[in-house]
Amino acid sequence: MFRHTYAVATIVMLTYAGIVLAETRATPEPVTFNKHIAPIIFESCAHCHRPGEAAPFNLLNYTDVKQRAKFVAEITESRVMPPWHAKQGYGDFANDRSISDEKIALIRQWVDQGAVEGDPADLPSLPTFVDGWQLGRPDVVVQMAEAFTVPASGPDIYRNFVVPVTVPEGKYLKAIEFRPSARSVTHHSLFAIDTEGECRKLDEQQPGPGFSGMGFRGARQNVQGIGGWAVGGTPKAFPDGIAIPLPPTFDLILQSHFHPTGKEEQEQSVVGLFLTDTPPTRKMVPVQLPVFFGAIKGIDIPAGEKDYTITESFKLPVDVNVTGLSGHAHYICSQMKATATLPNGTEIPLLWIDNWNFAWQEEYRYKKELPLPAGTVINASIHYDNSAENPSNPNDPPQRIAWGRESTDEMGSITVMMIPQSRSDEAALEKARRSLTLRSLLESKSNPGGRRGAMRERIIQRFDDDKDGKLNEEEMERATDAVGSFLGRAGFSQFGEQ
Ligand code: HEC
Repeated sequence: MFRHTYAVATIVMLTYAGIVLAETRATPEPVTFNKHIAPIIFESCAHCHRPGEAAPFNLLNYTDVKQRAKFVAEITESRVMPPWHAKQGYGDFANDRSISDEKIALIRQWVDQGAVEGDPADLPSLPTFVDGWQLGRPDVVVQMAEAFTVPASGPDIYRNFVVPVTVPEGKYLKAIEFRPSARSVTHHSLFAIDTEGECRKLDEQQPGPGFSGMGFRGARQNVQGIGGWAVGGTPKAFPDGIAIPLPPTFDLILQSHFHPTGKEEQEQSVVGLFLTDTPPTRKMVPVQLPVFFGAIKGIDIPAGEKDYTITESFKLPVDVNVTGLSGHAHYICSQMKATATLPNGTEIPLLWIDNWNFAWQEEYRYKKELPLPAGTVINASIHYDNSAENPSNPNDPPQRIAWGRESTDEMGSITVMMIPQSRSDEAALEKARRSLTLRSLLESKSNPGGRRGAMRERIIQRFDDDKDGKLNEEEMERATDAVGSFLGRAGFSQFGEQ
């Protein structure tokens, strides 16, 4: 009884403190658009809410904002806008778009006081937006040769487009910026460099622009993934010391995922390449947890299941710096989380997306690279809510959902972007990553009679010297050395997966 009373008293005190705090924080002078609100809107909303960008209307002046003032107050209070899904206090990100509680309260105060415009002399000038390109003027701009027609309806489309590129001799790629022409249907695009013209051959075999599918059927070996763009993503140069050597001519491959919206659209992406003369001094090794977007985790989520979870862990063989993380999943993912457990047992939060939203697939980039010592274990978990209570559930009533490439199927992984602290450790990290892929594949029970089952059997047969039906340490070791090219040759590898 005493405890109960005490708890109630505490809540009352906290609430009271909250009110006092809010009162002392409130701006005593009348809140005006020109003085108080415009700076917030210009800094945190205008770059998306302007012509030619993804947002559905402009937020560039008093009239734009006043028209939907209530909506703006509500949507910032619910933290739907600006879009940002990482939990506060869980990783310190450079591209954090969220705005402070004070700013949210100020918008509310402005609306409650009648959304007044204020003194024109107080109005700051709009930021200058560079001619469509967010990273400045690219060194090379290329465009898909022909537009691809995305039909009004039908299943999702995965299409690979081959864009020939010529750059001056001796250049390195420092950044890439992707601009879809049909933003409303373009869900994401993964980029790769093909130096051997292998994708071009696949393109020639199919009518129309590009070729279909997510795999490259053997072309993979000479195709190097270099990141991607997803709805709401902001382009950014590679971290310091990271650059990708470019031959003078190559094909840029855009693997785009389209989601028809009821209206036929023409997509003809434009890509800007930013070049440098400075060779890289470090190497990025992205580690995807689980590998292959969870394809070999056997994701199979019963209708109504509220918390279906897949997990993966990876022990760092060397000291690394983590530069950021990105997550990928489809509609019914509810949250995803990554932590690092140091050799001394301390747990460091890496990323927690506690309110996953399919529309906002982001790269989360740290303000400062996070050093992690060898022996650290990174744990990733992806959660799915396939109940009717999940407003993002594409099925009503809920239906069983398994791993697949349609956006109404599921997949999921967190990719941890890491750079070995010492160049001599790069090979060891890459080997550990291959070993994770091999271990996952061999442990997986998924797809027994299909492609993955056949792959498991082939790998075991090839490396099982003592013919006991499984791979011992030494056999695993040899298989790990071979596995990258072996999986690539077998066409298993999924483009862009790492
Ligand atoms: C990164 C780009 C981006 C930023 C920054 C951004 N928005 Fe949006 N906003 C969008 C997009 C895109 C939509 C369309 C809905 C969606 O895709 O979620 C949208 C939709 C909205 C809507 C309509 C929501 C609905 O349910 O119809 C409002 C209101 C809004 N934004 C207000 C704001 C305000 C206010 C800010 C700044 C505090 C802001 N937005 C910042 C991209 C952005």
